[in-house]
Parts: sequence; C-alpha cells; structure tokens
Amino acid sequence: MTRIAVLGAGKIGEALLSGLLASGRPASELVFTERHAERAAELTERLGIASADVAGAAAAADVVVVAVKPQDIAPVLGELKGAIRPGTLVVSLCAGLPTALFEGGLPDGTPVVRVMPNTPMLVGEAMSAVSPGAHATAEHVGTVVDMLAAVGRVVQVPESQQDAVTALSGSGPAYFFFLVEAMIDAGILLGLPRAVAADLIVQSAYGAASMMRESDDHPVLLREAVTSPAGTTIAAIRELERHGVRAALIAAIEAARDRSVELGRSVQAR
Ligand SMILES: NC(=O)c1ccc[n+]([C@@H]2O[C@H](COP(=O)([O-])OP(=O)(O)OC[C@H]3O[C@@H](n4cnc5c(N)ncnc54)[C@H](OP(=O)(O)O)[C@@H]3O)[C@@H](O)[C@H]2O)c1
Repeated sequence: MTRIAVLGAGKIGEALLSGLLASGRPASELVFTERHAERAAELTERLGIASADVAGAAAAADVVVVAVKPQDIAPVLGELKGAIRPGTLVVSLCAGLPTALFEGGLPDGTPVVRVMPNTPMLVGEAMSAVSPGAHATAEHVGTVVDMLAAVGRVVQVPESQQDAVTALSGSGPAYFFFLVEAMIDAGILLGLPRAVAADLIVQSAYGAASMMRESDDHPVLLREAVTSPAGTTIAAIRELERHGVRAALIAAIEAARDRSVELGRSVQAR
C-alpha cells in the first residue's frame, strides 16, 4: 500500500486524484490539501477522499505530490519541511521549478522527482515527462511512473530537457485547441453550421490522433496518404506553407521554451 498525499487539488491535482481512483486505487490510500474549506468539502463529497492540512497529509504519506502553482510553493515547502517523514518521496508537478529547489527546502536526502504533465490528465490521456532529482533512485522513478500511468503515458527525460517538454507537451494541448478553433472558423466561412463544423473537426482530430498513436508510420507518410496529385489536400498544404505555418509553430514552441526558463528563474529569485 502506497499512501499518496496531493498538495493543492486544483485542475491537475483533482485530475490526478480522479485518475488514481478510476485505476482502482482505494480512496483510503489518498488524501489531499486545499486552501478553501468549501472546495475541500465539495471534493470529499464527490470523490470520497479525505482532506487534511499539509502537516497532517505529509505525516501520513509515502508519496507527497505537490500540485500548487509555482508561485505558491514557498509556504507549502515551509510547512512540508517540518512535517515530512524521512525517505518520503516528493513529486513536483510545478512547471519550471527545479528538483534542487525542493531538495534545498526539505530535509537532507529527500528524494524528489519532477514531472511535467498536461491537462488531458482530466480524461486519463495525459502526457507526462519525469526527471529524478539528486536523491531519487530508479525505484522512486518507477513508483512515479506507475502512479502517472493511471492517467496517461509517461516518459523519462533528463531534467535539463524539462523546459522543452513544457513547451511541447505541457502547453501542447493549447496549440491543438487553437488549431481546431481556427478550422471550425473555416467551416463557418464555408457556410457550415457551427455545430456541424465542430463535430467534423473534433472527430477528425480524434481520428488523426488515434492513427498517429497506433501507426508506426511517421506523420509525413500519414499526410501523404491523403495528399493525391492535383487534389484538394495539396491545394491546402500549399497555402499552409505559403503562410509559414510550419515556421510559426517552430518559433511558437521555441518562445514557450524561453518563457518556461524565464518563469522558473523568476520563481526561484523570489
Ligand atoms: N494546468 C496545466 O495545463 C498544467 C500543465 C502542467 C503542469 N501544471 C502544473 O500543475 C500545478 C497545478 O496547476 P493547476 O493548473 O492545477 O493550478 P490550480 O488549478 O490553480 O491548482 C492549484 C491548487 O492549489 C491550491 N493551493 C495553493 N496553495 C495551497 C496551499 N498552501 N495549500 C493547499 N492548497 C493550495 C490552490 O488553491 P487556490 O484556488 O486558493 O489558489 C488551487 O486549488 C502548477 O504548478 C502547474 O505548473 C499545470
């Protein structure tokens, strides 16, 4: 039995708790903390999971998952330091915060694993990347991978790559939502009812995503399979290339990486 405490049951914290329950983990092995009593009571009623204060949650846990906003980390670390039992594994879901920040603020030797998840965790389809800190062993990483596998897919990357991961998969769902939004607008321009346009595009996105995940083929090959000579798709592709969409995506993701670096620095400098 691994008792898991989630500190901060907001969007990501709640998604993790729900996913763990859905994967068969008993509510008695889970606990969460929340700042607002009303939100805590509502979650307890809905999920059947008890809430506690940070000290109470940490004292009973084998794994402490920190899911507060990066700017809220200082008070949480302060409370955790005095409450955590030796050897308790700390898992940070906080964007931009290095494992060294947690190691410096917690008792010596505390194992820390940094994770960058994303919001499809809400539907059990997260993409999470994990990076062990200085005191985390392969066994600790295994515990975190098993926990996150309940809510999606998991890869391990060196911590130096976490800003790139943040830009690609952390923010990634937003780029797809943006693309779908623009394609629905195109449907409206072509005279389709909004609901029909949305249905056409959302199901096409879902189907295309399933094909990419299930096929061993590179996306280029999948695209070529729908790009016939002198056909409709190549006419559209020419416009996408003429408008620099590929270059725009590369520049956008590079900007997100730079912003992740900057945000991490600003929180650490506080
Ligand atoms: N959302 C994403 O797409 C995404 C993707 C990857 C990683 N993340 C990371 O996941 C973490 C959580 O993000 P989120 O989107 O879930 O944020 P969120 O919805 O704001 O959730 C954070 C929760 O923690 C609570 N909280 C803050 N300080 C607390 C304290 N001292 N004790 C107990 N609870 C406290 C907040 O309460 P209040 O409402 O009172 O502030 C809020 O309910 C962040 O570090 C973020 O970087 C998010």
